[in-house]
Amino acid sequence: MIYPVTVYGDPILRKVAQPIQPDYPDLKEFLENMWETMYHADGVGLAAPQVGRSIRIFVIDASAGADEEPELKDFKKTFINPQILETSGEPWALEEGCLSLPEIREDITRPEVVRIRYFDEQFQEHDETYGGFAARVIQHEYDHLEGKLFIDYLSPLRRKLLRGRLGNITKGKINPNYRIVIPSR
Ligand code: NI
Repeated sequence: MIYPVTVYGDPILRKVAQPIQPDYPDLKEFLENMWETMYHADGVGLAAPQVGRSIRIFVIDASAGADEEPELKDFKKTFINPQILETSGEPWALEEGCLSLPEIREDITRPEVVRIRYFDEQFQEHDETYGGFAARVIQHEYDHLEGKLFIDYLSPLRRKLLRGRLGNITKGKINPNYRIVIPSR
């Protein structure tokens, strides 16, 4: 089942999401639906608050980065109750987009390397370190669980310039190729 995506202006995107227990009801089905929703919207990552649940889960398919980083060819992972333990390396800028900010793309600077502890879909614990494109997407999706969006990293001037477009998103005056929840209704 494809979920409608929450967009800028929806208060759920500003909440700190809560951890889940291994017996979370219908977890398998929820994860399947998240993947389906993400692929339908051509996303590389999706966090649970973006489909209306304030819980600590995100999914990532970073295979789009395999042209430059061949090891990402099969990178398809579920992160449950993740915790970023540290970031390191040289900060670098990359243009980011977000299914919750349709039609907005901005250069965002983030650390190069991230170490993250998380549980997979079988509730096995992992402690892993990622760099490059995977680290980029992980940090973006993790932010969603902390109530943050990539526009938070922009300069006040840049945000001011985007104000009109952000307002249009909140009012639903946009036409992405996936279904959204219009916040102001
Ligand atoms: Ni996003």
